[in-house]
Amino acid sequence: MPSSVETFILQSLAASGAGWLSFAEVMRLALYHPEYGYYSGNPQRIGRTGDFYTAVSVGPLYGQLLAAVALETWDSLGRPDSFTIIEQGAHDGQLAADVWAGLRDGPLGEIARYCIVEPQLGYQRAQQDRLVPLIGGRVSWAHDFAGLRAGGGAMFLCNELLDAFPVHRLRWNGVAWEEIGVVREGDGLGFKPRAIPPGLLAEEAARLPEDLPLGYTTEVHPAAANWLHQLCAQPFNGTILIADYGYEAEEYYAPERSDGTLRRYHDHRVDGEVLRDLGECDLTAHVNFTQVIDEAERGGFGVKRFMEQGRFLTHAAKPWLASLEGKPPSSATMALLRQFQTLTHPSHMGAAFRMLLLSNVSGS
Ligand SMILES: C[S@@+](CC[C@H](N)C(=O)[O-])C[C@H]1O[C@@H](n2cnc3c(N)ncnc32)[C@H](O)[C@@H]1O
Repeated sequence: MPSSVETFILQSLAASGAGWLSFAEVMRLALYHPEYGYYSGNPQRIGRTGDFYTAVSVGPLYGQLLAAVALETWDSLGRPDSFTIIEQGAHDGQLAADVWAGLRDGPLGEIARYCIVEPQLGYQRAQQDRLVPLIGGRVSWAHDFAGLRAGGGAMFLCNELLDAFPVHRLRWNGVAWEEIGVVREGDGLGFKPRAIPPGLLAEEAARLPEDLPLGYTTEVHPAAANWLHQLCAQPFNGTILIADYGYEAEEYYAPERSDGTLRRYHDHRVDGEVLRDLGECDLTAHVNFTQVIDEAERGGFGVKRFMEQGRFLTHAAKPWLASLEGKPPSSATMALLRQFQTLTHPSHMGAAFRMLLLSNVSGS
């Protein structure tokens, strides 16, 4: 039985003259089709009973450590009277609740505002149910960047947002890069490469190395570049914190990574069958952090810290860890220390994930 998204794509292919859709379009439909997309309806599917874990689903410590980064941003701005935390990709609002819990009793507790960029009404409703009782009138929502009113001091944050942006899939044919698209194959879907016409994608392809084996397949991320361009143009001073799995370009496009990073997650299993059960599985590709940093620098932001999650969070946790010294740990502290171990140990999440803190505060 084809999934609803697959049926929709087969109909779109039949209706389109070319009979070919870019993989980015297929990924967009699989994840964000308003009715059938994986990320439509109500936010579920993350954590023990879902398809995959994120740092947020490990427990509240992650958000509490990000609250320490927000405090650092506010300090670097000279402790202004107004300060907003802006989050995108907030899912069910759990990270916002945890960050807020970390801020509530500190110097930002009386002044901070929280704003969530969320295009989906079902997700907004779930976030409101969770956050309005906690944050009251100081939490607000914007459908997209155009709806943001956060002038002044701010920290923008997103956890595993960019890996969920649709990517274009490219293949090296020994002479040139081609774009792999999706076509009808029998009763289902299959891949078919075609020449890349002049334009944005051809410019992206021109930046890739060419001394690669025949058939080398990878991804490029014009959606991430465009998103960053827009984000850096928003009228706020402060930081942007991006947490995700990814590589710098050299590692991303290394000859041995001959099948790219595009993967399907379902029921805590991962594979490369990215056309299977569309709309019912998560599709994801690693972030190209070199591209993100280049685009941010063009937009006036500099790199403040860029490192593996383990090192980043250990730095953020220093005051908390110091406060525990010499005290017998309570069971609540022991639970947080176990979360710290999962978030920072290289064999858990500490090495696979990167954290990038960008700043446009002069002198910081
Ligand atoms: C992999 S999940 C991560 C969720 C959560 N941040 C976490 O770490 O548990 C990706 C999330 O990004 C959201 N998302 C994707 N594109 C978005 C956009 N343009 N604006 C807001 N959220 C978006 C999806 O709806 C989904 O909730």
